[in-house]
Amino acid sequence: MKLIVTGGAGYIGSVATEVLVRQGHSVLVFDNLQQGHEAAIEPGARFVRGDLRESGAIAQAIREFEPDAVMHFAANSLVGDSMRDPFAYLGDNVVAALNLLRAMDAHGVRRIILSSTANLFADPLKVPITEDERIIPGSPYGESKGIIERTLYWLSVTRGFRYACLRYFNAAGATETHGEDHNPELHLIPLILKVALGQRDKIAVFGTDYPTPDGTCIRDYIHVEDLIDAHLRALQALDRGNCIYNLGNGTGFSVRQVIAAAEQITGRKIACDVAPRRPGDPAVLIAGSERIRQELQWRPKHTSIETIVGSAWAWHSRFPHGYGRNSL
Ligand SMILES: NC(=O)c1ccc[n+]([C@@H]2O[C@H](COP(=O)([O-])OP(=O)(O)OC[C@H]3O[C@@H](n4cnc5c(N)ncnc54)[C@H](O)[C@@H]3O)[C@@H](O)[C@H]2O)c1
Repeated sequence: MKLIVTGGAGYIGSVATEVLVRQGHSVLVFDNLQQGHEAAIEPGARFVRGDLRESGAIAQAIREFEPDAVMHFAANSLVGDSMRDPFAYLGDNVVAALNLLRAMDAHGVRRIILSSTANLFADPLKVPITEDERIIPGSPYGESKGIIERTLYWLSVTRGFRYACLRYFNAAGATETHGEDHNPELHLIPLILKVALGQRDKIAVFGTDYPTPDGTCIRDYIHVEDLIDAHLRALQALDRGNCIYNLGNGTGFSVRQVIAAAEQITGRKIACDVAPRRPGDPAVLIAGSERIRQELQWRPKHTSIETIVGSAWAWHSRFPHGYGRNSL
């Protein structure tokens, strides 16, 4: 197939591109490099540096490349940042998606996989969180994804779009060549590994008085390769209709468990500071992924926290400066 991967220079999009190219698909990465890295783009993919907030560049890329489908990873995706700058989310994320969708529609490309988020569920009635859970976005970021999900629904009704919305919980881990390198880095596992590498003194543990066995928050970490496997299955299934799936391992790990796994794998002590709870952080967030397991026979392969942290550690040890100096 021919695919456009928006955000293919970023963390998850670069792994998607790596896997798609390896499988023989023809891929065009569309990214403005505001967060991604040129060095993260899989050799073998074409690259267009462009910004989805402007309609012209993506329309030209779609017209010239004539993709069969699009995987849409590009977005601003920091929950806290979206509370400070809602316009970058309710504005830019939505405008970017609309420009992409309008250009797709104009050129008869109507298959899309959207990166959605667990931040749609700020106040779940039941955990594990299934697709039947009520949607109460936890931030302008989550709301922006909810708006794009609903836009896809209406484009399927009115324009014949076929879509899959994949709501990731916490993406984690790495392949041999692609890993997580955000600036600023706010995700727990890379932050912990920066302490192990001696690039940070310590990490903050936000809240130790949650109603969980060790008092720290529990989150569902899904390995980025398992995530991309779900994308490939969803892509194949678009012929049968639209789908929405919550994507996680179905098992949660507490912050302290992740730190313990990292200490065991790296053989280094991870210094921590206990800090107050962050507003809006629920005690436990775990995905109920039964639907995708049943409908697409998706089975995550990397389910232990040791495997997930171990793959991230292998990548960070090989590329201690990420995609910067002395990297790929
Ligand atoms: N990382 C997670 O745990 C997680 C969890 C849930 C959902 N998601 C979603 O998955 C997607 C990918 O996440 P990630 O962690 O790989 O993020 P990332 O920031 O590493 O990658 C996003 C990429 O999109 C590009 N981009 C952003 N805005 C753009 C624009 N206007 N035009 C062109 N390119 C643009 C960035 O330069 C970057 O390369 C995002 O949509 C995010 O909301 C991620």
